[in-house]
Amino acid sequence: MKLDIAVLSGDGIGPEVTAQAIKALEAIAHNFDHSFIFKEGLVGAIAIDKTGNPLPDETLKLCVDTDAVLFGAIGAPKYDNDPSAPVRPEQGLLKLRKELGLYANIRPVKAYPTLIDKSPLKREIIEGTDISIYRELTGGIYFGKKELSDNGNVASDLCEYSREEIERIAHLAFKAAQNRRKKVTLVDKANVLESSRLWRKVVTEIASEYSDVTLDFLFVDNAAMQMILNPSQFDVILTENMFGDIISDEASVIGGSIGLLASASVGDTCCMFEPIHGSFPQATGKGIANPIAAILSAAMLLEHFNLIGEANAIKDAVEKALELNITTPDLNANNPLTTEKVGDFIADYILNPEDSNINFENIHVGQSTII
Ligand code: IPM
Ligand code: MG
Repeated sequence: MKLDIAVLSGDGIGPEVTAQAIKALEAIAHNFDHSFIFKEGLVGAIAIDKTGNPLPDETLKLCVDTDAVLFGAIGAPKYDNDPSAPVRPEQGLLKLRKELGLYANIRPVKAYPTLIDKSPLKREIIEGTDISIYRELTGGIYFGKKELSDNGNVASDLCEYSREEIERIAHLAFKAAQNRRKKVTLVDKANVLESSRLWRKVVTEIASEYSDVTLDFLFVDNAAMQMILNPSQFDVILTENMFGDIISDEASVIGGSIGLLASASVGDTCCMFEPIHGSFPQATGKGIANPIAAILSAAMLLEHFNLIGEANAIKDAVEKALELNITTPDLNANNPLTTEKVGDFIADYILNPEDSNINFENIHVGQSTII
């Protein structure tokens, strides 16, 4: 298969982790005889610095013209600490999601058996956790009308949803559940919010088309509690934009590091793949960022194009790295490897799984050579 892939590595640790994802994809292309062409574009704070715009038109065009987008991270402290900044890096990401019509953000959360003792949560609580979060990504409070009164003392953000916006992601969530453990949990705040009551009504109607899937409901405050009390009860979680943002960061502690969580954002015509961690500015250039979320995002890209064997080859290599403790300091305080070395190991393992033990030795002395 030939795929043109836009690479928007963005800010902070974005470029270094994205480079590892590209290495993994190059190894896949080599082994499975595909052709992946990578085309870089500017986004985020670095794009503001260079062009004044967090999403230059050229970048948007690149994303529209390619088959998929591989995204790194955006954000920089100089903007976080300045609420009155006229342009913000995040606007680039939000505009990209909206313009590409990426209405469904899929965030898998898994407790890897080899990492169970690294999670701050107890083994018996997280064992067996395997969740797929379906977060609505182009509506709700993120995109509703924003107002600030003339005197600057009153502000509001509108949370608006239409039936159509709810239906299209709900169908994706139910279809996903049909191939999993056949349960969808709608997370909302229907005891308070009108928009949540519309979600319940529409999702309940759609559930009747998927009679093999069970639908249940949780208020978001309770869901936040259940996520750390009993996460293995969840299969597919379906939720609106802001609740999904919050719940997915919370869920990331289950796996032991936010540096493991990948995501796919899909719409009717475009798709984008990104680690859910942010730009982690303090770590930039130090080689301590975990590249696994970015690498697993590349696996989600392959899955999206139905390259299942290829995606599994990446996942197997990641599991091997975790098993052998070939990991960055977030997971390996005593004998950590750098971002690049973890990426080297994973790419090497994809190319040549039998040779992994030799590579393991080499990795530690910095002699990994393949690619
Ligand atoms: C995420 C991030 C973004 C969001 C930010 C960077 C705008 O937190 O992808 O979860 O809130 O959606
Ligand atoms: Mg977030």
